[in-house]
Amino acid sequence: MKILKNSKQMIVLTVSLVIAVLLTACGSGNNSQIPTQASQGKLLLDKAHGDHGSAWGKAECDNCHAIKVIHKNASKIIQQLSSDKGYTACAGCHGNNGSEAKRHCITCHNPKDLPTAPLSNGSRVHHFGANKLRQKTLAVEAITDKALTDKECIICHVSSDMNGKFELNADLTHFDRQSYENEAQFCQSCHNRIHQQLDFPITDKAFDDPLIAIEDDYQYFDYHGFRNGSDQGTYHGLREGYNYPQLLDCSDCHAMHGTQNKQLIIDRSDKGVKKLPKTIRQKPYAIYTDGSNGTVAGDYGQLCVMCHQMQVLNDKGGQNAGNGLKGVHEVNSDCRDCHTHGEATQIGL
Ligand code: HEC
Ligand code: HEC
Ligand code: HEC
Ligand code: HEC
Ligand code: HEC
Ligand code: HEC
Ligand code: HEC
Ligand code: HEC
Repeated sequence: MKILKNSKQMIVLTVSLVIAVLLTACGSGNNSQIPTQASQGKLLLDKAHGDHGSAWGKAECDNCHAIKVIHKNASKIIQQLSSDKGYTACAGCHGNNGSEAKRHCITCHNPKDLPTAPLSNGSRVHHFGANKLRQKTLAVEAITDKALTDKECIICHVSSDMNGKFELNADLTHFDRQSYENEAQFCQSCHNRIHQQLDFPITDKAFDDPLIAIEDDYQYFDYHGFRNGSDQGTYHGLREGYNYPQLLDCSDCHAMHGTQNKQLIIDRSDKGVKKLPKTIRQKPYAIYTDGSNGTVAGDYGQLCVMCHQMQVLNDKGGQNAGNGLKGVHEVNSDCRDCHTHGEATQIGL
């Protein structure tokens, strides 16, 4: 503690101490002084909820909490939406409190209330049983066209803190790891050959199908995984935001919440390619792949050209890839002979 030089300072200190003690005593009834789990971003209720856990297991939040007095310290948008949606929305953010209450997400996360969180237009979304459903019926489109359900949101985001900032370790469900260093680890909790999740098995796949091979591919073959690319290649060159070497997120290229492209490839730059400068990413550039909108089957050029821009133009490198950008070779052709996940003989993806 600092040594006090004179009696004037001593008086000031004494007075402020008294005020502090008084404030603490008077403020003890005021919950906003006590940091709760919720105020620290851990929104899910647990068995300690209420007086010694007396509130655990109860579904009727309105018995004890009036909407008017809660959320004084929460963001405006949370205050607004949770009072608009009322008590049916509580369990979405705070968990079901050990009751049967359903956790709703789409009630807020829809194009009207939160149009950009997430961007969800486009009929293809990340379902978990696509293959099983496919085997039962031949109507593939009908299945992929089904919108995501609340239950599916919670598989990937069991305990989001809804603070408007996406954080790996707060907003993505933890499967077999304590913490994630990157998003690929999250996807690979299920997409692997040897430690799949019991509830989400991916069965009957060829050994090299990326649905199960990606964990190995991303480590050993893929240039977008841990294997370092170099800036020495014939067609080298990357746009600002991306570098050699760099680990990419799966969601730089794949959209979970909605896209028109097969294999869940993003259909607009603002759905992925997250490190690009805003001026490019938010434009947004359209991305058509794999035969859609007049592209050749297997042509991923409009995706690749979002990040790649070859420095020395050759082999059609100066040609518009279809969305107004240029800088990849073999424009308007099938890239898959040489670039797929795990491609071992050619250069890969
Ligand atoms: C029987 C009364 C009762 C019921 C029913 C009840 N709560 Fe509570 N809740 C309390 C009490 C008491 C506290 C602790 C005092 C406070 O912070 O207001 C509390 C605290 C909380 C907190 C802050 C906890 C923290 O750790 O930060 C949240 C969030 C909450 N309740 C949400 C809910 C939701 C959602 C429901 C409905 C599913 C619900 N409560 C039902 C009594 C109740
Ligand atoms: C969109 C997510 C969201 C929804 C829906 C939601 N809450 Fe909250 N709640 C929060 C956040 C975030 C906090 C923490 C605020 C802070 O920083 O103190 C919180 C805090 C609380 C607290 C403790 C502190 C306080 O602000 O009073 C209670 C009690 C609570 N919520 C009850 C409810 C009830 C009851 C409902 C349903 C009417 C509900 N919440 C719906 C996000 C939500
Ligand atoms: C297969 C896993 C998966 C499913 C299912 C899923 N998400 Fe996501 N979500 C992610 C990943 C990964 C990210 C981070 C990358 C991104 O923004 O696309 C994310 C990001 C988000 C974001 C932040 C977007 C932003 O731009 O900041 C919101 C909001 C969100 N998800 C809500 C939802 C809702 C609501 C559902 C259900 C309708 C859902 N998610 C279903 C994996 C998933
Ligand atoms: C009452 C409305 C409401 C409900 C219900 C709700 N959310 Fe949110 N959520 C929000 C708001 C508001 C944000 C912050 C958006 C912003 O500021 O951009 C958010 C943000 C998110 C994010 C982005 C990451 C972050 O921390 O901001 C994810 C992921 C998310 N919510 C998932 C879910 C899931 C999963 C459910 C259902 C279990 C759900 N939400 C239910 C309102 C809601
Ligand atoms: C909880 C497990 C789980 C997680 C986490 C998960 N997936 Fe999946 N994913 C599945 C299952 C199950 C399927 C359906 C497989 C099938 O068709 O049999 C699937 C299918 C896919 C498909 C093919 C979809 C189609 O329509 O062709 C892609 C692409 C995909 N996942 C990418 C991802 C990415 C990227 C992430 C991380 C952001 C991710 N997955 C996270 C379980 C998961
Ligand atoms: C016949 C095989 C073949 C086909 C087809 C092909 N590529 Fe390539 N690609 C290669 C080879 C080989 C290299 C590496 C050349 C070198 O570095 O010497 C390469 C390099 C690249 C690179 C440069 C990566 C870097 O940063 O160095 C990009 C981007 C690329 N290809 C995109 C595409 C796209 C987009 C298509 C389809 C429209 C495509 N390729 C079709 C063989 C092919
Ligand atoms: C989100 C940005 C992004 C997208 C989209 C993208 N790449 Fe890349 N690519 C990179 C980065 C960053 C590297 C350097 C990564 C590393 O190897 O460390 C790279 C490296 C490569 C390499 C290896 C280069 C070398 O020197 O060995 C090839 C080949 C390649 N990309 C091809 C493609 C093809 C083909 C596509 C389209 C299907 C594509 N990329 C889409 C960012 C991207
Ligand atoms: C640079 C862009 C890019 C990145 C990063 C990327 N992918 Fe892909 N992915 C593609 C492209 C393009 C295809 C289609 C071509 C192919 O089959 O390889 C694809 C295909 C797939 C498929 C096959 C889907 C199906 O329906 O058959 C799965 C599964 C997949 N990726 C998962 C992942 C996972 C998991 C990650 C992260 C570990 C990831 N991808 C990272 C571009 C990417």
